[in-house]
Amino acid sequence: MRFVILGGPGAGKGTQAGLLCKKLQIPLISTGEILRKGIRSQSTIGQQAQSYVEKGELVPDLIMIEFIRERLLQGDVGKGWLLEGYPRTAFQAEELDFLLDELKQQLDWAIWLKVSESSLIERSLNRGRMDDRIDIIQRRIDLFYERTIPIVEYYEYRQRLLTINGDLSPEEVEQEILIATNLLKSSS
Ligand code: AP5
Repeated sequence: MRFVILGGPGAGKGTQAGLLCKKLQIPLISTGEILRKGIRSQSTIGQQAQSYVEKGELVPDLIMIEFIRERLLQGDVGKGWLLEGYPRTAFQAEELDFLLDELKQQLDWAIWLKVSESSLIERSLNRGRMDDRIDIIQRRIDLFYERTIPIVEYYEYRQRLLTINGDLSPEEVEQEILIATNLLKSSS
């Protein structure tokens, strides 16, 4: 199966993506995690992304689109994949669709973890990552509303969207996702 998981900073995308990928035995492609690792090791993508990630800005579309294109051509994604934190702009979403057409693949679901702004801030502050300072969190939230919410509508129009109440506990959110994706039976 092929999924993308959408949500604001601290929505629980990484948490739920990890659970779903473990259950389905599919690779988890987390752009945020990949960029943070790249910054630590000063890889090419890390160097390109560093100044953006540190300020809570989005990394330019062309860098991310090229990166995902290369990643989805690798050998381990044949049985499916989950993209966490990608796409994040309308341009990225459209380019992903073009790429999937080219690869003769289809997206099963776009899972949107809908979480209140107060929970986004609280969860991010409690976690304390390098980009979890209040001014940077606020910038990431603003960008989420400005650049990523339009993608939610994009997937809704294509009837691929699953809206999940991400304000519930992690276990409850997982359960909601399994029910919405019809995966509950095989989870027991
Ligand atoms: P990224 O790492 O994707 O950051 P983000 O979207 O801000 O999301 P987070 O990782 O902060 O949160 P999450 O939703 O994964 O929540 P988590 O599970 O950790 O991206 C970082 C940066 O990289 C961006 O700012 C940008 O610069 C760049 N970037 C990445 N992708 C890009 C792209 N496609 N294009 C351009 N730039 C890109 O949970 C958060 C906390 O809450 C944890 O402590 C967790 O334990 C807790 N928690 C989780 N679920 C629950 C729950 N249900 N109840 C209570 N607590 C919970």
